[in-house]
Amino acid sequence: MSFISQPRPPGRPNRCQLFGPGTRPEIFPKMANSKADVINLDLEDSVAPPDKVRARTNIIEAINEIDWNDKHLSVRINGLDTPYWYKDIVELLEKSGDRLDQIMIPKAGNASDIYAVDALVTSIEAARGRRKRISFETIIETSSGLLNLNEIAASSSRLQAMSLGAADFAASMGMQTTSIGGTQEGYYMIADGEPGSNRAISLSDPWHMVTVSLVAACRAYGLLPVDGPFGDFSDDEGFLAQARRCATLGMAGKWAIHPKQVALANRVFTPSPEQVREAREILQAMKTAEAEGLGATVYKGRLVDIASIKQAEVIVEQAERIAN
Ligand code: COA
Ligand code: MG
Repeated sequence: MSFISQPRPPGRPNRCQLFGPGTRPEIFPKMANSKADVINLDLEDSVAPPDKVRARTNIIEAINEIDWNDKHLSVRINGLDTPYWYKDIVELLEKSGDRLDQIMIPKAGNASDIYAVDALVTSIEAARGRRKRISFETIIETSSGLLNLNEIAASSSRLQAMSLGAADFAASMGMQTTSIGGTQEGYYMIADGEPGSNRAISLSDPWHMVTVSLVAACRAYGLLPVDGPFGDFSDDEGFLAQARRCATLGMAGKWAIHPKQVALANRVFTPSPEQVREAREILQAMKTAEAEGLGATVYKGRLVDIASIKQAEVIVEQAERIAN
């Protein structure tokens, strides 16, 4: 084990992040009343350039006037390559009250992107005497974001979460796909066999490498790893498959771009009562083993050891965090 122990991620639930465009204020109260843990009001790619100013006004009004209950409230600003981002931050922080929790920085390419936003936010917070410190989340969705994942993860003490944005990532990488996340039929293995014969095909996961890299960077620096959008909101099974793969690889939650995806994400990222019971039983079995001076024991016919304690603790902690 390294001398440096792994920091804990923020202790709040982050099973589902529900998005809504800044141009549709009529859906904001519905978002506030949803079962999503995080709300993302969008100024970026769901808002066309002529509507950017109106979206900003709508969002500031909504932050100040809507009852957001216990939601973690985040606004996605425009990218640092646009003429909008500085005003997004200045207006948000000068005109909205303390209800705003977080700013989402899209298309992070390196640590300096986060540093630039941090400098601006820090200056406005001091000038305005804002009491609550704004936190950050960012999206990894470019080739340079992938190459510089680790320095981005370490870039700011404000950073709480990183999401994988499949559509922009695919575009940046030149991937041959136009869908937003999920299965890609061009990415498959084919069994050996005679040409023209009926050879078995198995689909692979084109998002695997960047997902694992993002999870590792987040876990090493105490951030929450989150899977981004699944565009086809009429395909519940496709969404569930994508979400389950990500949960299996260690992600903490997933975006919803339509309200019907919220329950699906919550289902996948909430440990089931059976999982929690089994985790508690493993912890108990290990306690008994330890009392007998053993580092390993048998639970339901399989080996459990000190590593199993950590796996079981992750599940129990998730369940407790969600229950509180
Ligand atoms: N949050 C909360 N409620 C929403 C919603 C959202 N993001 N999107 C739609 N709704 C509401 C609708 O107002 C409607 O409510 P009603 O039953 O009271 O009339 C209901 O959910 C069903 O909506 P539906 O007609 O199926 O969808 P739509 O055509 O109004 O909108 C989208 C579909 C995809 C355009 C819309 O969901 C959306 O804008 N999603 C977010 C896109 C986004 O932010 N992208 C950026 C991140 S990738
Ligand atoms: Mg994007």
